[in-house]
Amino acid sequence: MEVKKLSVNNFRNLFPSKIEFCNSMNVIYGDNAQGKTNLIEAIWLFTGAKSFRTSKDGEMIGFSASEANLELEFISGGIEREAKINIKARRTAELDSKKLRSASALAGNFCATVFSPSDLQTVKEGPSLRRRFLDLAIGQLYPSYVDILKQYIKAVTQRNTLLKNSQGIIKNTELLDVFEKEITLNGSKIIDYRIKYCKNLTENASSIYGELSSLREELTAEYMPSSNIEDLEEKLYVSRKTDIFSGTTSVGPHRDDLDFKINGISARTFGSQGQQRSVAIALKLAEAKTLKEITGEQPVAILDDVMSELDPDRQAFILNHIKDWQVFITCCDKANVKPLKEGKIFTVVGGRIK
Ligand SMILES: Nc1ncnc2c1ncn2[C@@H]1O[C@H](COP(=O)(O)OP(=O)(O)O)[C@@H](O)[C@H]1O
Ligand SMILES: [Mg+2]
Repeated sequence: MEVKKLSVNNFRNLFPSKIEFCNSMNVIYGDNAQGKTNLIEAIWLFTGAKSFRTSKDGEMIGFSASEANLELEFISGGIEREAKINIKARRTAELDSKKLRSASALAGNFCATVFSPSDLQTVKEGPSLRRRFLDLAIGQLYPSYVDILKQYIKAVTQRNTLLKNSQGIIKNTELLDVFEKEITLNGSKIIDYRIKYCKNLTENASSIYGELSSLREELTAEYMPSSNIEDLEEKLYVSRKTDIFSGTTSVGPHRDDLDFKINGISARTFGSQGQQRSVAIALKLAEAKTLKEITGEQPVAILDDVMSELDPDRQAFILNHIKDWQVFITCCDKANVKPLKEGKIFTVVGGRIK
C-alpha cells in the first residue's frame, strides 16, 4: 500500500493543499497544535473507519466551512486508485469515480495502522479500548463487520432505552424479544469474527513480543467473551431483571475483553509500565502483520506523537520493524526519528504544510 497524493479542502485547520508523499518515511514536523495530527487523520479516514480521535464527523469540517473534501491517490496491489471523501452531516465516499454506499465501504481498499499515544494505554486501561482496537482492526479487513457492529449497537441501545423507560417492570416483552433476537444475531457474528481474528493476532503479537523482550518473556493473549455464542440469547433473557435497574445490557460483545498475560501473569494487573507499553507496541505491529497475511498488502504505518513517549530502545525497535513500509510519523522533535535517514520532511505551521 502506498499513498501518492492527498488533497485537503476545509478539513480542520488545514489550508487547502495537495501533498505529494514519498514511498518511505514521511516526517510531519511542527510545534503543538499546528495541524500535524489533522493531516494524518485525513489519510486515516480512507481506511473507511471513523477517525481515531472523534466519533463526530462534523468536528472535522473547518470551522468556517459547511463541508470538507478529501482526495487520496494511492497504489494498492500494484494498481493506481483514487478515492474521495466528502464530510457534511455524514461522510460519503467515492472510489475510482464510483459512489460507494457509505464511507465505511472504503474498508478493505486502503489499509493503514495507526499508533497514537492513547494506544499505549490499550493494555492498562479498561476493556473498551481493547474492544475498540479489535473493532478497528477487523473493520478494516471486513467491511461487513462495520455494518454488523452498527446494527448490533443500535439493537443494544434500543433494548437499553426500553429497559430505562419501563420503571422497574418489564412490560413490553414482545419488543424486548425482538431486540434480543437482533442482538443475538449480530452479536454472534461479532464474537465469531473477533475469536478468529484474535487467533491470528495473538500468534503474531507473541512472536513480536518475544523479540522485543529478547526472548526473556512470553506473551499470551486470549479473547474473553462475556457469553459464548450458544448462550447469548438465553443470557440476555435471564439478565432482564437486573438490567432493568441499571438500564444497561450486561451481556454481549460490547462487554467482552482481550486478556494479556506475560509469563502467565496478567499484564494489566501486574505488568510494569514498560511491559504494558511493550505489549501495546507488539499488538500494533501484530495488527499490521495480520493485515498483511490476510490481504497480502502491507498497510501504511501512521505513528502519531509516539516517539517522544518511548525510550530509545523501543523507538529503535519500532523504526527497525517498519523500515520496509511507507510511514507517516508526526513529531515535535526531529531527533526522535534520526535512526531513519531516508525520506521526506514536511513542516506544518498554523495549518500550512510546507
Ligand atoms: N474543525 C476544525 N476547524 C478548524 N480548526 C480545527 C478544527 N478542529 C481542530 N482544529 C484546530 O487544529 C489544531 C490542532 O491540530 P492538531 O493536528 O491536533 O495539532 P498537532 O500539530 O499538535 O498534532 C488546533 O489549533 C485546533 O483548534
Ligand atoms: Mg498531534
